Amino acid sequence: SERTFIAVKPDGVHRGLVGKVIQRFEERGYKLVGLKQVVPSRDMTEEHYADLKKKPFFKGLVDYMSQGPVVAMVWEGKDVIRQGRAMIGATNPLESAPGTIRGQYCISVGRNIIHGSDSFESAEKEIGLWFGKAGELVDWTQSGAEWVQSDN
Ligand code: GTP
Ligand code: MG
Repeated sequence: SERTFIAVKPDGVHRGLVGKVIQRFEERGYKLVGLKQVVPSRDMTEEHYADLKKKPFFKGLVDYMSQGPVVAMVWEGKDVIRQGRAMIGATNPLESAPGTIRGQYCISVGRNIIHGSDSFESAEKEIGLWFGKAGELVDWTQSGAEWVQSDN
């Protein structure tokens, strides 16, 4: 089943929003298959945001993220990459719809509390980068999963 990489950024962790983020994905019906708190190295952060290397805010972004702590997660379920992005809202919280995570909890693009993979390719890359070791992700079956998902 589809998986995405979601991370609560250092501002979200400091502001006590980890539980809120987890609650939204859990309540939607997604399954948590990976979770850890880390202080990512600058190298790791630069690799994570490699596609933004040429942006003027890149150094500030790496400074911000690599302070840590970051709560890194992998969530699994139907259409979770696209739905995760929709739940998070627009990059700039001032453009994020009310009710989205950013639209509810933040007001600054440089402190937008959460990351979510934007495609299958980035999900695969990011899960590998943040959860490299085999065994760090847990395959399990939710009791009552049939009440969340039906294929007919
Ligand atoms: P992520 O889920 O964190 O990848 O955000 P995103 O996919 O919505 O946006 P993008 O990948 O384009 O940018 C990554 C992060 O860089 C954003 O979430 C912001 O934290 C930061 N960022 C993006 N644009 C700006 C900007 O114009 N100024 C500043 N200061 N930060 C920015
Ligand atoms: Mg992005």
